[in-house]
Order: sequence, then structure tokens, then C-alpha cells
Amino acid sequence: MITLSKTRTLAALFLLTAASACGGAESAEGDTVPAHAHGHPGAHEGAEHGGHGGHGAHGGHGGAHEHDFSDAEGFAELFDDPSRDEWQQPALVIEKLELAEGMIVADIGAGTGYFLPHLSRAVGDEGHVLGLDVEPNMVRYMTERIGRDGLTNAEAREVPTTEPGLEAASVDRILIVNTWHHISDREAYAAKLMEALRPGGFVLVVDFTQDAPHGPPPAMRLPPETVAQELEAAGFTTTTETDALSIQYVVRGARP
Ligand SMILES: C[S@@+](CC[C@H](N)C(=O)[O-])C[C@H]1O[C@@H](n2cnc3c(N)ncnc32)[C@H](O)[C@@H]1O
Repeated sequence: MITLSKTRTLAALFLLTAASACGGAESAEGDTVPAHAHGHPGAHEGAEHGGHGGHGAHGGHGGAHEHDFSDAEGFAELFDDPSRDEWQQPALVIEKLELAEGMIVADIGAGTGYFLPHLSRAVGDEGHVLGLDVEPNMVRYMTERIGRDGLTNAEAREVPTTEPGLEAASVDRILIVNTWHHISDREAYAAKLMEALRPGGFVLVVDFTQDAPHGPPPAMRLPPETVAQELEAAGFTTTTETDALSIQYVVRGARP
């Protein structure tokens, strides 16, 4: 049984780690992220006190935040910890995607595939789920997960950092969770998302709020307004929700 305090600890560790991973706030020692998951204090200092040591190219709001996601098994302990469901609320995220049977949905920066079972169920046997990631080990991990869980309508694909590798007008929905700030030249990337979406389709960007209790230093977080502007620059019509999830905002970009 997971106690409330253990749940909070796990959630905090995920936040520190995921935020660190996603926001580039590393411990001064530059430890690997999965090591942080095992309670290395450097993670807390780095994330909570604004440490910017470690690796990656950190370009503030304009640049991408590079991070080593090669330890898929290590990240799986965090990204797929059952306690994540409490604040991530995957059912609510799926509801916001307004998926229907037979739709094609892409999860960009899908990582270990936390959302894949939820997406798979929502689009049914006639639908298709694409778990896309730049990290080969994440793609391998997702492929194994898809086989293990019998997600016959899902597949994992490795994609370049600069584009989702989707054919024009080929998907109904795109989900991007805690990943948008990893993408460089996001306006150009958004234009590629627009191309990939079918008429009536939309992208959902979910990321940590500025005032989330844990996470990277504020300068490393993208405000929802920035995400919306970047999507609008590519022609999307946006709507932003800051109170739907407890510690993340949701920006929806619809293809007009
Ligand atoms: C913090 S993880 C989020 C994983 C997953 N979305 C989740 O919420 O559990 C960020 C993921 O984005 C991937 N990533 C980073 N840059 C990317 C890009 N340009 N295109 C696709 N995936 C990218 C990383 O390899 C990593 O797996």
C-alpha cells in the first residue's frame, strides 16, 4: 500500500527529476537523472535553489533544453510510478484530447510510453497510436511495452529532433507532455505539426506551471503564454487552461 507520505515523496521526486530532465536544472555535480530518483540531494539543491550546472544547451525561453534520456529503465521508475496518476490525471488528459474510435494520435516525446495504454484504449482497434521520441532507448522501451501490454494498435518510432516525421494531414491529435521546451525552433516545429494534422485536428501541450511546488528554476519553464504564441505563429487557434490540472497547464492548438 502506498501511504500519502510515500505518494508525496514519489510525486516530488518525479517533479524534481522530470522537471530537471525537462527543464535542464541539473545538480551542480551533473548527476544522471535516474540517480536523482534514488534520493541524491544534489537534485533537490539544483532544482529548488536554481542550480544550473550540469549538461545541456539551455537557451531560456527561446532555446531547447537538451538532456540525456538514454536510461529508459531508470526513467520508467519515475515516469510510470503509479502515484503519478494522482496529479497527472491521465483520464482527464485523454478527455481533453476528445479522441474517438478510429482516430490516429501521436504522442511526441512519449518517453517510456506512460500515455500509450490510455491513448490505445481511447482510439480502439480501428485507431492508431504513434509513440514518437528522439531517444532510441525510449523507442526500444516503448516497443517492448507495446508488446508486453498487447497494444496492437500502437507503435513506437524514433524521430529527428527538428520534426515529428509525420506525413501531411495524417493525424487527428497530437499530445506533447513535458517535452515542448526540449524542442528547438519551436515555431518551425509547430508549423510541421500544423502540416501533420488533419482538418479539425489539434495539438495538446501539457507542461508544468510556473508555480508548481517543484521543478526547474522559473527561467527554465515555459509560460503557457509562450507556448500559445509559438503555436499561434504557426497558424493555430489556441485555448489555455491553467487550472484543469493541479501542477500543469494545458494549451490546445487547433488547426483552423
Ligand atoms: C520528460 S520526458 C516526457 C516523457 C513523456 N511525455 C511523459 O510525460 O512521461 C521528455 C521526452 O521527450 C523526448 N524528446 C526530447 N526532445 C524531443 C524532440 N525534439 N522530439 C521528440 N521527442 C523529444 C525525450 O527523449 C524524452 O523521452
